[in-house]
Amino acid sequence: MKNISLPQIHPLYNQILDAVDVGIHVVNEEGISVIYNKKMSEIEDMDKTEVINKKIMEVFLFQREEESRLLLSLRNGDVLKNAKQTYFNLKGQKITTINDTFPLTHDNKIVGAVEVARDITKLERLTKENIRNKNEANYTFEQIIGNSALLNDVKQSAQKATRTSSSVLIYGETGTGKELFAQSIHNASNRSAKPLISQNCAALPETLIESILFGTVKGAFTGAIEHAGLFEQACGGSIMLDEINSLSAPLQAKLLRVIQEKMIRRIGDSKDRKIDVRIIATLNEEPIVAIKQNKLREDLYYRLSVVSIEVPPLRKRKEDIPLLVEHFINKYNKQFQLNVPFVCENVMDMFKNYDWPGNVRELEHMIEGAMNLIHYDEKIEYSHLPLHVRNKFSRYDIQQLTPTTLYPNDPPKSLQSFMEEGEKLYIKRTLDYFNGNITQAANSLGISRQSLQYRLKKYQLKEIHKKS
Ligand SMILES: Nc1ncnc2c1ncn2[C@@H]1O[C@H](COP(=O)(O)OP(=O)(O)OP(=O)(O)O)[C@@H](O)[C@H]1O
Ligand SMILES: [Mg+2]
Repeated sequence: MKNISLPQIHPLYNQILDAVDVGIHVVNEEGISVIYNKKMSEIEDMDKTEVINKKIMEVFLFQREEESRLLLSLRNGDVLKNAKQTYFNLKGQKITTINDTFPLTHDNKIVGAVEVARDITKLERLTKENIRNKNEANYTFEQIIGNSALLNDVKQSAQKATRTSSSVLIYGETGTGKELFAQSIHNASNRSAKPLISQNCAALPETLIESILFGTVKGAFTGAIEHAGLFEQACGGSIMLDEINSLSAPLQAKLLRVIQEKMIRRIGDSKDRKIDVRIIATLNEEPIVAIKQNKLREDLYYRLSVVSIEVPPLRKRKEDIPLLVEHFINKYNKQFQLNVPFVCENVMDMFKNYDWPGNVRELEHMIEGAMNLIHYDEKIEYSHLPLHVRNKFSRYDIQQLTPTTLYPNDPPKSLQSFMEEGEKLYIKRTLDYFNGNITQAANSLGISRQSLQYRLKKYQLKEIHKKS
């Protein structure tokens, strides 16, 4: 095997090795890597070239040399099945795999060793990420900003839900604050001393989500380890299942059984385990629609929606906008060390006329974005808003070219300065509209390019335009 090096392996074999979904790593009798396939390089986050033709111990870090299963196999002929191994790559990243390792023999002599690895770093990381300790699930009802009748109704019914452990279904468009409600319910309930574990059902492949939710026992499938699922880890607390409609129908049926029987069974296990968990599920569309489109089982819906909370979209409660704007300006003033007082009147008018497809999250991002462009204590104005919003409201902006919006609080000025302010604002808007294209802007304004250039210089508009 000594003379085996990667170029001598038929290129087709390399293609095949790169196509399989397990990591394969082969060393020759000197412990030098001769095969290192694509999956292995993904699992270990190492480039093939960093590993091939190098000794294992030059590239990976084990606590002791013995812990390299490949070297153990090479030296002692050990065959290891389903062994969990944790080590570090050269970049200091911790890697955890489940390995099968065995020697390669020729003429009764060990000439190399091969390792077949499955990645569990990802599984472990995902599980850990989902466990929120109490400090992270930190929203309470007082921090849900807004004073509209619609929002107050929702808050009231959510507050009632804190007295029991019944399942809760929260639905609403993206960015409306479903997570805030879930956290607030958990934190105000008598489960608040225990964890709130949150899992986005859409973020994971079907095979992983089942083991993450219900856990596995060793040997349940190749590579399976003894591991408690999120339901067990949330013991005494709550579990938030985000985007429940993205679970497959069989998994929804399993979930229904869990809710009914208050028992779970780890994958591969023969016994049931009792669980004490409150389920809070979220949905980003109307349940009726999801049921009609076969994305949500009707029976599961009835079980989950003992308490059903609809968080209305921002466009239906525009009265909340000023309070939210104030709240986010305060938040980013603190974060960015600014002293922005508020938004200009015409910006607030625009906010109230906008549809907010991304709801409160979009408003927050818009303010955060604007405050990235702003000087210490300027108000947020039109030019600080994202281009797609400015384009949508370009016509609206023309209507705002009135003396009151130009000088909302100042005493009247000379006609000359008003005309200049108006001209400046209008040129700026036109340039924004044409994305900074001078020729198009000049055509639209009915002036020559030179004349526009002259005005840009005069009003120092180039800088402003670049900045926004
Ligand atoms: N009423 C509110 N008061 C203060 N902040 C809010 C409010 N509603 C939403 N937010 C802010 O908007 C962000 C998005 O809210 P959240 O994550 O709860 O939305 P969601 O409904 O769960 O959205 P998705 O369906 O996309 O997961 C939050 O991080 C929070 O900062
Ligand atoms: Mg959410």
